[in-house]
Amino acid sequence: MLDIQKIRADFPILSQKVNGHPLVYFDNGATSQKPQVVLDAISEYYSQTNANIHRGVHSLSQKATDAYELSRKKIQQHINAQHSHEVIFTSGTTHGINAIANGFASLLQKGDEVLVSALEHHSNIVPWQMLCERTGAVLKVIPINQNGELIQTEYDKLLSANTKIVAVNHISNALGTINPIAEMIRKAHTVGAAVLIDGAQAVPHLKPDVQALDCDFYVFSGHKMCGPTGIGILYGKEAWLNQLPPYQGGGEMIATVSFEKTTYADLPHKFEAGTPNIEGGIVLGTAVDYLNSIGFEHIAAYEHELLDYATEKLSEIEGLNIVGTAKEKTSVISFNIQGIHPYDIGTIIDKKGIAVRTGHHCAQPIMDFFCIPGTIRASFAFYNTKEEIDILVEAVKKAKAMLL
Ligand code: ALA
Repeated sequence: MLDIQKIRADFPILSQKVNGHPLVYFDNGATSQKPQVVLDAISEYYSQTNANIHRGVHSLSQKATDAYELSRKKIQQHINAQHSHEVIFTSGTTHGINAIANGFASLLQKGDEVLVSALEHHSNIVPWQMLCERTGAVLKVIPINQNGELIQTEYDKLLSANTKIVAVNHISNALGTINPIAEMIRKAHTVGAAVLIDGAQAVPHLKPDVQALDCDFYVFSGHKMCGPTGIGILYGKEAWLNQLPPYQGGGEMIATVSFEKTTYADLPHKFEAGTPNIEGGIVLGTAVDYLNSIGFEHIAAYEHELLDYATEKLSEIEGLNIVGTAKEKTSVISFNIQGIHPYDIGTIIDKKGIAVRTGHHCAQPIMDFFCIPGTIRASFAFYNTKEEIDILVEAVKKAKAMLL
């Protein structure tokens, strides 16, 4: 059992009032809040450790380098990567996907196929469209059913010897669907395709095991898992990262440079051009430690309780339609109320201090599939409570009464 009040005390932002009401923060899918240990680690980095890494012989640079590399090792252990050099620091999920999509430009030819799904965030669609434009490859889309689940029989039909890469999310940001990625990765490998998993929405809720999944790439952001913004991780299997060209050129990613020829540094530095987000990298390790101290089994069980409770209570509201009713879901509820624009509900409940996201959630194809302009999305974290869900339900009822 989690002591939620004790956990809430770790998050100073949660005790503030917004528009005269205690903040009810249900926009965790967009970004999570940060515990005091993370805030302290940011301040400690700049007051005790700040120096550029991998460059100086001086002691402070060594201290910063050691802290940065220690964090890489923590993340390696956290996701169970075989080697720490398979863990690349990026600025976030979008950066990681773009790095791999660009790398594949050197491998694809006209007629090759890239497979994404109808459940993707724009960041796992657009980089692949750009890749297809550059190479003449064709983008194919795994369709979804009315529950917001990927149709696996359609996926089977789309896979062929032409499929070079499959890019799907672990969990849908808009609907909360948990995709059966282990099985999807296994199938993709039978036709020789590589698989990139967008884990941005998964890592706040579960601990991915990249070796057990056998994915070729797994990308995520730090800010959705209690870490700072502007830091993320690209995991790639060593063989793939050695094969792909670097995404960016610059300092740090080279072995030798001359005007005749430049050779690249070994992993992970080959993919880490320029001065990185040193503080972010170090503090992401702190965030991972914090989440592990709570325990992902506890987090998942409690968030599931919140999901069930909110689903039951919101479903009692007449005219409310939950969008995304997959069997396997994480703590995300997208919904609409008949005859009311999501934005109007979001604006009214904000006046009660409730933060939800409204709109298409950077997943327009999902909204097109359901023929809706958007949804109201409440996304819960382990520091949320059933009492807060009651506040949401009452506020939605009142907003509905005002607007209809
Ligand atoms: N991708 C983030 C979300 O789903 C920003 O809200």
